[in-house]
Amino acid sequence: LNMSLNEAKRIAAHRAVDEWVKTNTTVGIGSGSTVVFAVERLAERVRKEGLKIICVPTSFQARQLIVENDLTLGDLDRNPKLAVAIDGADEVDRNMVLIKGGGGCLLQEKIVASCAEKMVVIADYTKNSEYLGEQYRKGIPIEVVPMAYVPIKERIAARFGGELKLRMAVAKAGPCVTDNGNFILDWHFKESCDCDWAKVNGELLQIPGVVETGLFVNMATKAYFGMADGSVKTQE
Ligand code: A5P
Repeated sequence: LNMSLNEAKRIAAHRAVDEWVKTNTTVGIGSGSTVVFAVERLAERVRKEGLKIICVPTSFQARQLIVENDLTLGDLDRNPKLAVAIDGADEVDRNMVLIKGGGGCLLQEKIVASCAEKMVVIADYTKNSEYLGEQYRKGIPIEVVPMAYVPIKERIAARFGGELKLRMAVAKAGPCVTDNGNFILDWHFKESCDCDWAKVNGELLQIPGVVETGLFVNMATKAYFGMADGSVKTQE
């Protein structure tokens, strides 16, 4: 049995939804391709068991998923406290430090996760690493205010090394603009940065113009990885 990546994403998402989502709660809905399967499962449980939940999105994509699946849409104004946020990740290391933002939605994802009592990560086995950068090669996304992207880029390279690339849009000439109107620098850090990610994250956030980083430290409670053999591996 060799599961496709989509099957791996689905089993992880379904397991996490079944273990964490209770009726009469508010749930944070992450972004990316794995979250699609979590929303699919939530919608199924609403239909079959009459599960009652309010869903707070972390992006335009998540908002559309909620609406298309006929789930109840909430927001942080009315629902500032969430029981759980369910989200994907680009990479999860042995200490539960995550890289997020491959899909460019890191800012709202981190805000929503910070409002949730628990953050649960769902992913396929390609995201399950010992250290950051082991499997994921696209770097750490850093959301920045557009006018400051060059000085920020230079400052990070001078302080930590590595290379920073302005993320470009796919279907348009020019930079990728986030849901919040910012740019993204993808930081291809040096291997020697397998160090204290909390400290690195703190330093990055001190730079004026840095809005948020895709480093999620001390946020995730549990990760569910769909494995190639059809099992689900968990990590806490
Ligand atoms: C979106 O900005 C990201 O943080 C996603 O959560 C992450 O890229 C995981 O996406 P997939 O589920 O598509 O791997």
